[in-house]
Amino acid sequence: MDSLEVAERSFLDQHPGYRNTTAIDELRHAQYERLDRLGHRYLDYTGASLYSSTQIQEHARLLLADVFGNPHSSSPASALATRLVERARGAVHEFFKASPDEYLVVLTRNATGALKLVGESYPFDHASRLLLAFDNHNSVNGIREFARAAGAVVTYSPLVLPDMRLDRESLSAYLGASGESTHKLFAYPAQSNFSGVQHSLDWIEFAHAHGWDVLLDAAAYVPANRLDLRLAKPDFVCVSFYKMFGYPTGAGCLIARKAAVSKLRRPWFSGGTITVASVKGDRHYLHGGPEAFEDGTPDYLCAPAIEIGLNHMASIGYEMIHARVESLTGWMLDQLGALRHGNGLAVVRIYGPLTTDARGGTVAFNFFDEDGRFVDHRIVEERANEMKISLRTGCFCNPGGGEVALGISEEELSACFSGTPSGFTLDDFRLCIDDKSTGAVRISFGLVSNFADAYHFLQFASRFVDKRAIEI
Ligand SMILES: Cc1ncc(COP(=O)(O)O)c(C=O)c1O
Repeated sequence: MDSLEVAERSFLDQHPGYRNTTAIDELRHAQYERLDRLGHRYLDYTGASLYSSTQIQEHARLLLADVFGNPHSSSPASALATRLVERARGAVHEFFKASPDEYLVVLTRNATGALKLVGESYPFDHASRLLLAFDNHNSVNGIREFARAAGAVVTYSPLVLPDMRLDRESLSAYLGASGESTHKLFAYPAQSNFSGVQHSLDWIEFAHAHGWDVLLDAAAYVPANRLDLRLAKPDFVCVSFYKMFGYPTGAGCLIARKAAVSKLRRPWFSGGTITVASVKGDRHYLHGGPEAFEDGTPDYLCAPAIEIGLNHMASIGYEMIHARVESLTGWMLDQLGALRHGNGLAVVRIYGPLTTDARGGTVAFNFFDEDGRFVDHRIVEERANEMKISLRTGCFCNPGGGEVALGISEEELSACFSGTPSGFTLDDFRLCIDDKSTGAVRISFGLVSNFADAYHFLQFASRFVDKRAIEI
């Protein structure tokens, strides 16, 4: 028995539930064979998931079988394309159990496109509020610019170390504070793309009870966790499909509650979003459905790949995907946490929860050398690249999560930013925060991860044992 087999046996003893997910190994062998053929250790499922060969084949077959034209007319080619777009929306309703009576599905280019639609259309004014979680992705953080431009109050709800969960007390206080606000929007991630923390979906009803609209960023959550919109009812949900099933890129959606949509005010109109617009009459009438938010010609040829991808995920089932991701994550957390230098110092510092309770398959950390100095994450990435391991380093577009995890203070940040009004680069930032790491290493498990991926990464991590930073 080789060392991988020995390690796998012990892993299976600790995580017996993994045995019920062997169908994923068969699937990987049959439809993702490129991974093992190329010896690629893919550990960036939070960046993007991977597509199966059948997804591509089915999509190609469908496109080659008929003639599709621009959906904005009534020709046969147009009608077929319209049908593709409507089917994609229908598949999203079905997958997330979003009743068409209650929710609209707006097709967007990605989660960011969905977030921007909400940000630019939400009726922020001087009497309104935007409450953000500290570990939001930048595409959520950016909404603060729309809010501020309209004079709204913008507040961040803090995280508590070491687990990096939202501070219950202050979040309850922010949400519960009564006031004369007009419109209040609370935006948070169901799962942090930095720490993997899953913030409770119970905040949604708590916020509703205090008059807030809720924007749930589900981009990092839905690749391995079921979101059932009969049970949790945020007003707005954003998703990127490539993060769920790898293909197509350039497709995401906004799932929006009709009651909340009626508040939104689109800042403009365009082809595709109106029923009638007149130049001489100087009027336009927005479409009554999701089309009002889909600018220009929809990506009608990409649309069927959404339904194909959702069916692919449904055929595997969230239970299986989740169980596998959870087992591998639990094992990795234990193994990385146990790595020690000869002098007893920890090799890895993990940011976020150390168990799989209410956390997903994203693990962020830094390596530390035997003198306790962090190893520059850029060096780690270079070494990983050499070994065909795909991981991510930096702050993953989640500066709040990074600042909390890495202990970078507001004072340090203000000092760095104050002398440089424009043209500030990441290297300037590194020089400014010279004794601290400005980023982390992130690995993440997903749809077709297997034990060998985790094992090989641990072998890689072991290279940092008993090393000084300059030797790495
Ligand atoms: C939690 C989260 N939200 C939003 C996004 C933005 O997704 P996209 O770049 O696909 O628009 C990401 C991307 O990494 C993410 O992880």
